[in-house]
Amino acid sequence: NSTSNQLLVIFGASGDLTARKLIPALYHLYEGGHFPENFVVLGASRSNMSDEEFRKKVVYESPYLKEEVKTKDAAFIKKFADIMYYQDLGDDYDSDYTDLKNRIESLDKECKTNGSFMFYLSTPPSLYEPIAKNLSDQGLTKGSGNDKGFRRIIVEKPFGYSLETAQELNKGLQKYFKENQIFRIDHYLGKETVQNLLVTRFSNSIFEPLWNRNYIHHVEITNAETVGVEKRGGYYDKSGALRDMFQSHLLQIVSLIVMEPPINSNAEEIRNEKVKALKSLRIMRSEEELFHNTMRGQYVASSINGKRVKGYREEEGVDPESKTETYAAIKFFVDNWRWKDTPFYVRTAKQMPTKVTEVVIHFKTPHHQVFKDQDINNKDNKLIIRIQPDEGILIKFGVKVPGQGFQVERANMDFYYSSLSDSNIMDAYERLLLDAMQGDATLYARADEVEAAWAFVDPILEYWANGQDVNTYGYPAGTWGPKDSDDLIEDSNGWRNPGE
Ligand code: BG6
Repeated sequence: NSTSNQLLVIFGASGDLTARKLIPALYHLYEGGHFPENFVVLGASRSNMSDEEFRKKVVYESPYLKEEVKTKDAAFIKKFADIMYYQDLGDDYDSDYTDLKNRIESLDKECKTNGSFMFYLSTPPSLYEPIAKNLSDQGLTKGSGNDKGFRRIIVEKPFGYSLETAQELNKGLQKYFKENQIFRIDHYLGKETVQNLLVTRFSNSIFEPLWNRNYIHHVEITNAETVGVEKRGGYYDKSGALRDMFQSHLLQIVSLIVMEPPINSNAEEIRNEKVKALKSLRIMRSEEELFHNTMRGQYVASSINGKRVKGYREEEGVDPESKTETYAAIKFFVDNWRWKDTPFYVRTAKQMPTKVTEVVIHFKTPHHQVFKDQDINNKDNKLIIRIQPDEGILIKFGVKVPGQGFQVERANMDFYYSSLSDSNIMDAYERLLLDAMQGDATLYARADEVEAAWAFVDPILEYWANGQDVNTYGYPAGTWGPKDSDDLIEDSNGWRNPGE
């Protein structure tokens, strides 16, 4: 794929995400030789800064590029910093964009970016529509998603707060941009191992024939983080784990596990199948179903390695009586031919013992047990896809214990990405930015995908907010979640806690 000349405008350019993720991702693309001949970045936000001050902030004095600035050739760094410009938007994102338009047009002429503009909204979602409208008022949105002289818009998550707000956001953006111009980021899709789910499934005849209800007993996904809410208490307390992680990142992973084979690897074909997958998740509606299949929890103060760790309710920006979940576990079924009656268990949480995201496919035991001595708790074949860290794939299968009789033990066949000598795993933002620069939307969420995910999550949120006697179970920070969460997966031999 080739990347044509273009100008990237970053809204929210003085914010944390820009400095922490976007500029380092751009730097690595630059270092890897992925920039087109003419490429310009125009930061825009409410802060008053000159171009030079912006360069200082996001490059020369950035804590996120410290190593690079210190060790690389000064001229090389300068060449990167010099593509950065800055435009002050005044007091608010909803003011007049004439200055911005003039700046874009003069940079476009000066730097020969061919009238191709990409707008990156690193701002709260409430600003998406006003920014899109202002760009449209200035005539900056007309163009296509694909050709020369393109106009594209990239938006961050969270995309909405509920199905209704996501629909409003989609409508708001689609007033000014066509769907093929809109790129909705879900950084999990930028992860190499998430993309590899497609390759593992659809390029191997040893997995795909087994990938269904006949051979798979259940599917388990764990997403654990060791951090708490850090400095984002204010945002997180209104969001919670279900909105923050499950609706987006985890349901994206689910869709890749559940989907049918696409006709080919085009963005539209893959996304059509993902939407179908998300629409086939059985939406839980009755209180009884929701009671038995969902669980929320919240970390409470504890001591880790002799150090006291704050409970969630003590975190800055969090309501001391908050019921917001930092742990969410959901059991659900998929109503289609392939997955009928196969349970899926998905959990996500902060303040867990280790940082890990993994998918475990638990296969059924063979119909007839020839060898009686198998360890009853450990007799299924497992395919474990480690999304992060230690990216790789592990297969657990039975082998004979040397010696008399036929005792069976599980052995591991373990592949680590790091063992590929030429592997250079691109950071998720790097990959996604490069794709958007090239107009490839395969790894971006389409409007209908996002809405189908919200449609599944909405009743759970509603039940947790207003249902009768819904508990928020406490769990000590640094542990694997509430004790009662074992009940949710009891029929399937319990959760697999990686590293235990
Ligand atoms: C973000 C969430 O989208 O993903 C954060 O808002 C979370 O709360 C983060 O910590 C996790 O991302 P990763 O790539 O570290 O697993």
